Amino acid sequence: AKFTYVDKDTCIACGACGATAPDIYDYDDEGLAEVIYANDGNHGTTEIPEDLYDDLQDASDGCPTDSIKIADSPFNM
Ligand code: F3S
Repeated sequence: AKFTYVDKDTCIACGACGATAPDIYDYDDEGLAEVIYANDGNHGTTEIPEDLYDDLQDASDGCPTDSIKIADSPFNM
C-alpha cells in the first residue's frame, strides 16, 4: 500500500505535482500543494490505488524541494 502527503512547510508552490498527478494533488488558496485524493485532506491516511503509483512516483521525483512524502503505511498529519 502507498500513502502520501505534502509537507507544506517546505512546498514552494512550484505547481509541478498537480500537473503531474492531478488525481492526487491540488493546491490550496496560497498555491501550496495538498493531497486531495478521496478527500484525504492532506492527512496522508488514504490509500493510493495502484493505478496511480506511476503518477505518485513522478510527482515525488519532480518536486524540487522533496516535499512530497510517500510511505507504505499511513501518515497521520
Ligand atoms: Fe510544492 Fe513540490 Fe508540488 S514544491 S507544488 S509539493 S511539486
